[in-house]
This record gives sequence, structure tokens and C-alpha cells, in this order.
Amino acid sequence: MKVFITRRIPQEGMKILSQAGVCKVSLWDSDEPVPRAELLKGVAGAHGLLCLLSDKIDTEVLDAAGPNLKVISTLSVGFDHMAMDEIKKRGVRVGYTPDVLTDATAELTVALLLATARRLPEGVVEVKNGGWSTWKPLWLCGYGLSGSTVGVIGLGRIGMAIARRLKPFGVKRLLYSGRTAKSYAAEVEGEYVPLDTLVSESDFVVVSCALTPETQGLCNKDFFSKMKNTAVFINTSRGAVVNQEDLYQALSSGQIACAGLDVTTPEPLPTNHPLLTLNNCVVLPHIGSATYSTRGIMAELAANNLLAGLQDTDMPSELKF
Ligand code: NDP
Ligand code: DGY
Repeated sequence: MKVFITRRIPQEGMKILSQAGVCKVSLWDSDEPVPRAELLKGVAGAHGLLCLLSDKIDTEVLDAAGPNLKVISTLSVGFDHMAMDEIKKRGVRVGYTPDVLTDATAELTVALLLATARRLPEGVVEVKNGGWSTWKPLWLCGYGLSGSTVGVIGLGRIGMAIARRLKPFGVKRLLYSGRTAKSYAAEVEGEYVPLDTLVSESDFVVVSCALTPETQGLCNKDFFSKMKNTAVFINTSRGAVVNQEDLYQALSSGQIACAGLDVTTPEPLPTNHPLLTLNNCVVLPHIGSATYSTRGIMAELAANNLLAGLQDTDMPSELKF
């Protein structure tokens, strides 16, 4: 069977595929994204496709693959880059990588929240550029978690892991919103509240929901206008959940205190983007799951999902849709 892999992936995954001896692998042998024409060429006649979140898997790609295609395995937990309705219609199975990246992503979210709220990047720059003249009572002051209210939008696997990590900082109230209340939220004394309540009462708003048609552009002018002027906004889900023009206005006008983003639209964010001119906006290059071990385990899981799809057996992590 023929498999196309859209990028170099960690060796752990490649080893599993080569040792299995059930497929002939061709790979876009680069650390950069596969050009669209090469993707369409590479996938032609494939039985399996191993892709990344930066590959748009739409009707054109599915058509280019043709009727052999049995399985798509994405090296991500997010699946907003794939045309799920079309995939379902064609009876193609989908594997993804939930759980194995939850700890790494939650850890990065906490790091980003603290870096943003306590202004670490600004401080590092001041030390290097001579702006550090002396100890000053109000210089580089920020916001602390102790006694605060934290609101998590999307208390799923990662949202819950973020909440578990934040509670021991002395968070007083943990609010969350989503489509349904979660019984497991009791562990963090989570209060299920309407989105408006979360937005207006939280000192820290953390976005960890999936990108769907309902969450696209959820954090817009109206949303930011309800936040406290002292509130910190953090997004480690997907860039398109945020209207970035509205975020820029909220940050530059003092409507909200600061923002930390691990995800943007587009990715990479152009270096001349207005958000990058702001001291109160910390932008990271989508590194939520970027630990060596997590990426290795993601590659193993993606390879095993692919093999199971090729061989019509149970997948370790099949997306049910
Ligand atoms: P889960 O499926 O466990 O959680 C997704 C959450 O999104 C659920 O709690 C769900 O709430 C919530 N959600 C869905 N629709 C809405 C809505 N309309 N309003 C509010 N909340 C909603 O996924 P994970 O926690 O594993 O991952 C979440 C996302 O994080 C991924 O989809 C991906 O985009 C992103 N991610 C980013 C990473 C990074 O590197 N920055 C790394 C890994 C993931 P409910 O159950 O109530 O519907
Ligand atoms: C995902 O898995 O969806 C992340 O964005 C990258 O790990």
C-alpha cells in the first residue's frame, strides 16, 4: 500500500512505519510545508496520508488521492484543517493525537500566561538594552494569579489540564464555559457559567476550545468590551477563534491589559503585523506541544493510527465524527 507523508516527522514515527513492512512510504523530505502541487502529486493513488495541521485537506486533495484512500492520520489533536464532511462522505477513517500532548500544551499555556501577566519579555529586553536603571516601585508591574478569577473557555482535555495547574497558584474562582457542564470540573471547583459571565468576571481569560464554525471569531470587539481593563487574555487553541483586529484595538486602547497568543492567523504572523508592535502582546510560534518527548510520542501515535487504518484494525486514537 502507498502512503504519503507531508513533512519530515520525528524518527520514532518513521521507524514504526518502516518496521511494519505493510506500506511503501513517500515523504516530502523537508522541514518546510509541502507546496500544494507536490501535495496533490504525492497523494495521488495513496492508501494512507499522514499530514500536519498546516496542510489543508479539502475536496481537491481528496479528489487527487482518489478512491484508494482509506486513512488520514494527522500529527495533531486539532482537526480544523480537514474537510470532515467530505472525508466522512468518502468513508475515509481519521486518526489524531489527543491526550499525549495535553501536559505539554497545558504547561506552555501556564508559561505564556505568567510571561504575559508578569511582563517577562519586556523585562528581558530592558535588561539587555540598558533600560534597567534602578529598582523602581511601579516599574514593570503586572498581574498575579493569587486570589484571582480565571475563566477557561473550553474545559476539555487541555482546558482541564490548564485549570489543574493554575489552581495551586491560589486562584480563588475557576469559571468555565462550553457547550455542556463537566462533572470532572469538581476537581478544580470549576463553575459552569455563561460566556458573558466568564468574560466579565475573569481576571484571566484562557481560550482552549476547538476551532469550529461556532467558535470562529468568538473573541471579537463585543467580547473584549466586556472584559475588565485589568484582564489578561491567553489563547493557545487556534488563531481563528480571535478577531485579531479587534484584539489589537482592545490592547492598544487599554480596554484589556495584555494578551498572550501561541496561535495566530495566519501562521507565521507577518513580522510587520500590528500586534507585534505592542509591548502588551506576547506572541509565540505555535509551540504548545513542542517538547522532544511529546513530539516523538505524537509521531508514534500518528504512525500507529495510520497502520491501523491501512490494515482495517482498531486505531489507538480514531476520531469519531
Ligand atoms: P477537547 O476536544 O478535549 O476540548 C475541546 C473543548 O472545546 C471542549 O471542552 C469543548 O467544550 C470546547 N468547545 C467546543 N465547541 C465550543 C463552543 N462552541 N464554545 C466553547 N467551547 C467549545 O480538545 P483538546 O483539549 O485536546 O484540544 C483543544 C484544542 O487545543 C485543539 O482543538 C487544538 O485546536 C488546540 N491545541 C493547540 C495546541 C498548541 O500547540 N497551541 C496543542 C494542542 C491542541 P464542550 O465539550 O462543552 O463542547
Ligand atoms: C495540535 O495538535 O492541534 C496542536 O496545535 C499542535 O500540537
